[in-house]
Amino acid sequence: MRAFHGHDTMPTDTLAARRNTDRPDALAAAWVFGYGSLIYKADFPYLERRPARIRGWARRFWQGSHDHRGTPQAPGRVVTLVAEPDAVCAGMAYLVTPDVFRHLDHREKNGYLRQATELCFGDGGRAQGLVYIAGADNAAFLGPAPEREIARHIAAASGPSGSNRDYLLQLAAALRELGEHDPHVAGIEAHLLALEDDAPRAP
Ligand code: SIN
Repeated sequence: MRAFHGHDTMPTDTLAARRNTDRPDALAAAWVFGYGSLIYKADFPYLERRPARIRGWARRFWQGSHDHRGTPQAPGRVVTLVAEPDAVCAGMAYLVTPDVFRHLDHREKNGYLRQATELCFGDGGRAQGLVYIAGADNAAFLGPAPEREIARHIAAASGPSGSNRDYLLQLAAALRELGEHDPHVAGIEAHLLALEDDAPRAP
């Protein structure tokens, strides 16, 4: 098994690495926590779907997207989670059968690895679950930038799954629908809409 340590850079496609790190088929039905497109695009079967939160992680548009909302030549910007001790990240949890992880592993192959986390549901219940996180050591990671710059980047990017703009606006709308306010997402959305307002229109 190849592990990634210290100065090693993970490849852009983490599918093979992840397959070696755990065995989804050895698990019974499991919770997976979605905090990005997994909130609003559930293109997989699930047994149950519940709003949930996880602690210690902040949602950030710091991950490059080579395969969904951008291309390897012009990556888009999508969300990942960054460790922050006091942060709480709101999202959607799905109870899925192990075979679903094959689909999710493929969908999230551009830098994301599965990680165990504790989910907190609205009614005070808790459960162990998995979450896809793209760490700073993956080759597609872009890291922080001012929110206005991130909005500019998103406005210009698109890929096989559609425009990066739609990813941002759909995520912002999905969070509003959940009754959640994420200042980072809302701030970038506001910059993007302001940029569009300022853009010259065709006569
Ligand atoms: C997620 O939604 O949980 C992962 C990031 C994404 O696919 O947007």
